[in-house]
Amino acid sequence: MKKVYIQTFGCQMNEYDSQQMIQVLSGKGFEETKTPESADLLIINSCSVREKSENKALSQLGRFASLKKSDPSKVLAFGGCVGQTEGPKIKSRFPFLDFVFGTNNYRDLPQMIEPFEKRWETNTEDAQEMDESNFENLIPSFRPLSKAQAFITITNGCDKFCSYCIVPFTRGREISRSPEEILREASQLVQRGAKEIMLLGQNVNSYWGKTSQGAFTSLCQLLELFQRESERGGQLEGLKRLRYTTSHPRDFDENLARAHRDLPVLCEYLHLPFQAGSDLVLRKMRRFYTAKDYLRKMEMVKKYRSDIALSTDVIVGFPGETREDFEATLSILKEVEFDNVYSFKYSIRPYTRSAKWVDDISAQEKGDRIQELLKVQRKIGLKKYQEDIGQTVEVMLEGESKSDSRFWTARTRKNRVVHLPRQSDFELGEFAMARVLNATHSWLLAEVPDKFTSEVAQAS
Ligand code: 5AD
Ligand code: SF4
Repeated sequence: MKKVYIQTFGCQMNEYDSQQMIQVLSGKGFEETKTPESADLLIINSCSVREKSENKALSQLGRFASLKKSDPSKVLAFGGCVGQTEGPKIKSRFPFLDFVFGTNNYRDLPQMIEPFEKRWETNTEDAQEMDESNFENLIPSFRPLSKAQAFITITNGCDKFCSYCIVPFTRGREISRSPEEILREASQLVQRGAKEIMLLGQNVNSYWGKTSQGAFTSLCQLLELFQRESERGGQLEGLKRLRYTTSHPRDFDENLARAHRDLPVLCEYLHLPFQAGSDLVLRKMRRFYTAKDYLRKMEMVKKYRSDIALSTDVIVGFPGETREDFEATLSILKEVEFDNVYSFKYSIRPYTRSAKWVDDISAQEKGDRIQELLKVQRKIGLKKYQEDIGQTVEVMLEGESKSDSRFWTARTRKNRVVHLPRQSDFELGEFAMARVLNATHSWLLAEVPDKFTSEVAQAS
């Protein structure tokens, strides 16, 4: 069987697309490998949302180029958001690349690799091996998942055109998938072992899907459908947790806020980027809300679900951002008390409106503001996470901890990461009630009382 290695950069949409690429390629006799050295086909799925993400993908290209140099039978492809807008430029800048593709044509990968298949022509033994696995290749969607958390893209693209953002150019106009198609995919994922589903879209809450009968469905109605189907006898029986991301504050309405109270399958977690606290900056960003509007929406969601965990995205050092503007961003952090804040230094992105403005905040100043913001947020995060100490919380086991194999990593419904002493009878996707022992600003330490062994407890 031929092997494909995909290096994914960027958001969960890109993660989802990489999974789709693997599915498409499995129909062509490929299986995924976790080591680039062993791959016949190497793919970079790039992200261009910030300058830094784009550079990461390009430097990965350099590493793959040296692998190809030592084994010229490898095929090297570059796809994703950078490929979408910069395809021809990338191809001529890096002649060792075999082909480049974008965000909307990865389904054609089988055709794209055809001209290179000669490189892989090997002996009949390999062909035999492929034949035997053909049956499995025809039904790739029924293989068990390696994770109990799965993603489904429900909207693609964005029509908002925030002045700093490249997404409308890399992903194109906003399109919603039909509820039936989404449900079909969700049901396959649940059959393959998914216990948690994250509905994805750059602008997920402006979802407006059309059923085959022509009826329009909002995100809220789609969530209600997932609730009904996750109940006993439904198509999604076994689904325990539902999330959606990323929402835009402008489209976040009372129905969605209420859904967090009324739908048990929907987690008490919301990611709602506000980007900046100054109304002037927000106007220049073309966000079409004020700081007050945002705070009002946060109050509204807390009214329906007082224990909801919140997270957000913030851009620091937008053109013209004064010290006062930056302090307005800090004020929102202090007022809302997010669990997590993802903060980014502004960088110029091609095609955007703000690319015409002078990037006048120095790199040093942006760095200092980020550090100051993180300091404020770490205190808030610690306070929020410490609220869980002594509580018993439902966790879903995700796998071995990356930093210490004696621990498992799990996640609460609020999306808080939990480390637990490892137990031999723990299984991926299993749920447990864990008692929280300690907290940092970004993770919890917990035990599952009836499975707890003193040996590992001492190790912690
Ligand atoms: N510079 C810095 N951050 C950006 N983001 C989007 N565009 C830019 C840019 N030009 C951030 C926003 C968005 C997140 C995915 O990336 O905060 O929510
Ligand atoms: Fe980019 Fe704005 Fe669309 Fe989000 S809403 S993807 S920040 S243009």
